[in-house]
Amino acid sequence: MKTIGVFDSGLGGLSVLHALLLEMPDARYVYLADGAYTPYGGRSTEQVAERAHRITQRLHQDYAVDALVVACNTATAMAIESLRQEHPDWPIVGVEPALKPAAALSRSGHIGVLATRGTVESERFARLRARVESESRHPLHFNCQACDGLADAIERGDEATTRVLCARYLDALRANANTPAPMDTLVLGCTHYPFAADILQALSGPDVRLVETGAPVARRTRTVLGLPEASAVVSGTPQITLLSTGDPAPLAQASTRWLGTTVGATHLDL
Ligand code: DGL
Repeated sequence: MKTIGVFDSGLGGLSVLHALLLEMPDARYVYLADGAYTPYGGRSTEQVAERAHRITQRLHQDYAVDALVVACNTATAMAIESLRQEHPDWPIVGVEPALKPAAALSRSGHIGVLATRGTVESERFARLRARVESESRHPLHFNCQACDGLADAIERGDEATTRVLCARYLDALRANANTPAPMDTLVLGCTHYPFAADILQALSGPDVRLVETGAPVARRTRTVLGLPEASAVVSGTPQITLLSTGDPAPLAQASTRWLGTTVGATHLDL
């Protein structure tokens, strides 16, 4: 049985773990939430990279993981290249805002992108955007919004603030769109945001399609591990270990809500 390490600044990566469980129900998972350092979105590249390297090292050494999923757009933007350089013999899969799938889905070419400031302002994101724009056969208009505080509000389970911030950032997208053509696709470029999908969908209206990255990342992880497609018959229950460098209680609660199964969580000093 393969062991897959997954980490995020907090509980956002559970949205990716959920997709991994659907894709590979028989694998063993070690999920680490960096609760002591959440949120990553406003931190410097050096800080996030330092945390990402420390976490990766620990998952590699103490949990013998066969592959690592960086279930965080911000950490992927800031550290995936140096992580792969440090661990060249070991598959590391990152998460990036789904610009390419959004470009394929959008009819109008007007695509909103919500992500953390760290992601939106990263060089890696600028390169991704330029690549997708240059490869598209249709004109694309990406309208990108840094959502300060949104991942943190979701992390804290603060629904009132989550609503206020979702409304604020969707208004900002509308105000920034220098065209009357409506956006028809909205990229959730942070793994926390799928947990606010209902709010974002209600505020955006039924004509806007929300796009996230969990499923393609899970497929990619299965491919790099050389595992077959999941059969309808699951031979065992998935084994999940939840760890948090902060308070483990909210992570355990979030597992009940977002994974549909209650998993105990343990504190890890790191
Ligand atoms: N969930 C993360 C991401 O996908 C990080 C959010 C944060 O910690 O600011 O970007």
